[in-house]
Amino acid sequence: GTKSERAGRAGALAAVVYNYENESVSGTLGAPSPDHVATFGLSGGDAAPYVKKLKNGEKVEATAFMDAEVKTIRTNNIIAQTVQGDPDNCVMLGGHSDSVSEGPGVNDDGSGSLALLEIATQLTNFSVNNCVRFAWWSGEEEGLLGSNYYAENLPEEENMKIRLFMDYDMLASPNFAYQVYNATDDANPVGSEELRDLYIDWYTAHDLNYTLIEFDGRSDYDGFIRAGIPAGGIATGAEVKKTEEEEDMFGGRAGIPFDPCYHQSCDDVGNLNMTAWELNTKLVAHSVATFAKSFEGFPN
Ligand code: PHE
Ligand code: ZN
Ligand code: ZN
Ligand code: ZN
Repeated sequence: GTKSERAGRAGALAAVVYNYENESVSGTLGAPSPDHVATFGLSGGDAAPYVKKLKNGEKVEATAFMDAEVKTIRTNNIIAQTVQGDPDNCVMLGGHSDSVSEGPGVNDDGSGSLALLEIATQLTNFSVNNCVRFAWWSGEEEGLLGSNYYAENLPEEENMKIRLFMDYDMLASPNFAYQVYNATDDANPVGSEELRDLYIDWYTAHDLNYTLIEFDGRSDYDGFIRAGIPAGGIATGAEVKKTEEEEDMFGGRAGIPFDPCYHQSCDDVGNLNMTAWELNTKLVAHSVATFAKSFEGFPN
């Protein structure tokens, strides 16, 4: 791995100390070189930093020290809803406001957070029939904590008011693809086909290619799907490498990740493809405008 990946592992262990007392983590480093040193900076207690020279392919295992300081922190989702519009029929959309500790998270998920903020601001100039509810989730990177808490704790009556949830996580990856979450009957019975088709129709109408991706449980739609709320979303790709076919469809470079700075310190303000961000933000706006107006043709 790269230096920053290793730094990432060290940071991950520090997070383990914070949240999961005693949990064990492991990692393997790649080709041999003199700088293959794993440093696990344990904070608190008597835990001294654990430093070990690694040989090629050697595995490191570390267990968070029992006497390391364990802190419980409280985080907050930010939820905002339009004053106007039927409060019993809401379209909800969200991005996550946190990042991993290794980097600023400007693409992941500043790109989604900022799209929502811009659209919420612009929405003050329009009227809506259905209520629009925005969410900036906390703790996504620690295991979808904010969105899971929210979706799991909705009373039945409140659950029924959310007709649709739209997830916007990573909209401007530098080596982007336009990805649409697929709603297939077999694997994802409650993913929204109506929403998927809205995205597909929009990309098609703008002469743009798209690929369908699976709900893999890695973003904030997950709690909603498990709560029986139709959901979907778009993304531009994370650590997976672009294929030749995708290079032909979207440009960029095959063989490198959609976001080479995924979960790293270089996910900074320079890590955005602004063409993708602007286009996708327009599509997010289109999704809000459509469902703020009507849920016609939608399951009840
Ligand atoms: N939710 C992931 C993250 O925040 C990003 C991601 C989404 C990766 C969907 C793959 C698929 O890190
Ligand atoms: Zn992330
Ligand atoms: Zn994310
Ligand atoms: Zn090619």
